Amino acid sequence: TDAELHDRIRAAKATLGERVVVLGHFYQRDEVIEHADFVGDSFQLANAALTRPDAEAIVFCGVHFMAETADLLSTPEQAVILPNLAAGCSMADMADESSVEECWEQLESVYGDLTAVDADGRVPVIPVTYMNSSAALKGFVGRNGGIVCTSSNAKTVLEWAFERGRRVLFFPDQHLGRNTAKAMGVPLERMPMWNPRKPLGGSTAAELDDARVILWHGFCSVHRRFTVDQIAQARAEHPGVQVIVHPECPMPVVDAADAAGSTDFIVKAIQAAPAGSTFAIGTEINLVQRLAAEYPQHEIFCLDPVVCPCSTMYRIHPGYLAWVLEELVAGRVVNRIEVSDDVADPARVALERMLAAKP
Ligand code: 13P
Ligand code: SF4
Repeated sequence: TDAELHDRIRAAKATLGERVVVLGHFYQRDEVIEHADFVGDSFQLANAALTRPDAEAIVFCGVHFMAETADLLSTPEQAVILPNLAAGCSMADMADESSVEECWEQLESVYGDLTAVDADGRVPVIPVTYMNSSAALKGFVGRNGGIVCTSSNAKTVLEWAFERGRRVLFFPDQHLGRNTAKAMGVPLERMPMWNPRKPLGGSTAAELDDARVILWHGFCSVHRRFTVDQIAQARAEHPGVQVIVHPECPMPVVDAADAAGSTDFIVKAIQAAPAGSTFAIGTEINLVQRLAAEYPQHEIFCLDPVVCPCSTMYRIHPGYLAWVLEELVAGRVVNRIEVSDDVADPARVALERMLAAKP
């Protein structure tokens, strides 16, 4: 039963004590979150991994790219464990290393030497990858003068990149790239979207020359479900409602909302609001439902009336958590996520640039 499962998790955690740390992403179901030592967005969890160098094992209740990131930031002795290896991220899978390498080569054919610095001290293009990407892509970015961003620091990271490059190649999420660049004043016509099936990504050399941000075609299937109509309906039914959406939502949705921000931004906005506020939230349902339960002084609901969980986050069932913890008690490490050194070294460079970039 569920109660037995929870007892098993608690017992294993009690036996392991400080030897293990359990991290839980905001989108995890409540039955997992209740066992997490740290709960947060992907940026906070990357930092949380750094704060426990003493723990032998980091059990990451999130998706594959987050566990890879924790492995990059943890000590070599620490084992990072993903309770279910099938918990991936469909957006992260939309940019594979070979397509990005090919794009890079084609950009070189337009811009010339991509390491050549102009009179302002800038190179032709800086690659920026969203945290939601494989370690291999973080490595690509690290090798090519680029940087990682999350949804909570995308603007700071783009500013970092524009100081060092005339343009940015942003992948995999087109929406985060477009929404962030637009908020920084980049006109849409200077944000061509790369189509890996067409020469020069479907743009002319002149368009690429004029580009400020070259977007990749990736998207999150959870966040792209939110619509402007849902916002109009929420406003009609709940006068005074504040609409807050995640920047992985399409641009018209972000434009129609009152605010857009990372999962942590959404949590903080709700915490700071006066009692009796009403919020319509455009992000994953497990987080929205938990916020509604935790802040009964407000009315909080999901913009999408049809439940929209992240199906891969949901693959971290408490049964898997119990299993990996009990294996640790028995002295066995299962489902370890290990990034090979050739990828890890440059990927760490890209992550460290992000952690050092200050607004
Ligand atoms: P955060 O960076 O806001 O935690 O989001 C991660 C994610 O996967 C959003 O879909
Ligand atoms: Fe990936 Fe979207 Fe799930 Fe986030 S919500 S992990 S971007 S599929």
